[in-house]
Amino acid sequence: MTLDVFQEQARRYYEGTLRAHGVTARGVDWNSTESQIVRFRQFARLLEDDPEATVVDYGCGYGALAVYLRKQGYRGRYTGFDVSGDMVAAAAGVAGGLPDCRFTSDRAEVEPADYTIASGIFNVRIDAADEAWRDYLLRTVEDIRSVSGRGFGFNALTSYSDPDKRRADLYYANPLELFDHCQRTYSRRVSLLHDYELYEFTILVRL
Ligand SMILES: C[S@@+](CC[C@H](N)C(=O)[O-])C[C@H]1O[C@@H](n2cnc3c(N)ncnc32)[C@H](O)[C@@H]1O
Repeated sequence: MTLDVFQEQARRYYEGTLRAHGVTARGVDWNSTESQIVRFRQFARLLEDDPEATVVDYGCGYGALAVYLRKQGYRGRYTGFDVSGDMVAAAAGVAGGLPDCRFTSDRAEVEPADYTIASGIFNVRIDAADEAWRDYLLRTVEDIRSVSGRGFGFNALTSYSDPDKRRADLYYANPLELFDHCQRTYSRRVSLLHDYELYEFTILVRL
């Protein structure tokens, strides 16, 4: 598989966080397990009524979402995909034994599922220019859509964050622009969740 420059950059960055912090929330660059779970709870709205729904976890890290979903009673086939082979190996260790869960770093092996969830893949842009990162984000959302039968969701840091708290290496997306894009491009049924206690938002699209 050939990775584009931003995927390659992400792979190197997250392999560094995994090496530094191991299989923990900080190992995938979250501040805490609590915030990781708050994010999963936003996505769970998509699956709410269907414990059999199949899921692609796009940017799965070490597989924390697989563990969360199984704990919540979701039984549908779960496929974790990550650009990082090290993350996939860690995920296989953490969650590979869960029923009907598999992990891959090869995009070609990802089969379409009912829903795709992408938590945390648009945040760290390092030194990418705004426009280039925005294009990458939209291209990646298109790829996420291509493996989703019934819906998909992703999150991003919000451009409504306090200016003095922003970091130059992170990307703060405009939630209104992304809502509008998803509504016009993918479906009339789009939710923008911007009411939870993190400097970010979640978009859910029902196809
Ligand atoms: C912030 S971590 C979150 C991991 C996991 N979603 C979680 O919440 O525990 C982002 C993960 O996405 C992966 N990633 C980043 N960009 C990606 C892309 N374009 N395609 C697939 N994986 C990606 C990284 O390697 C990293 O493991």
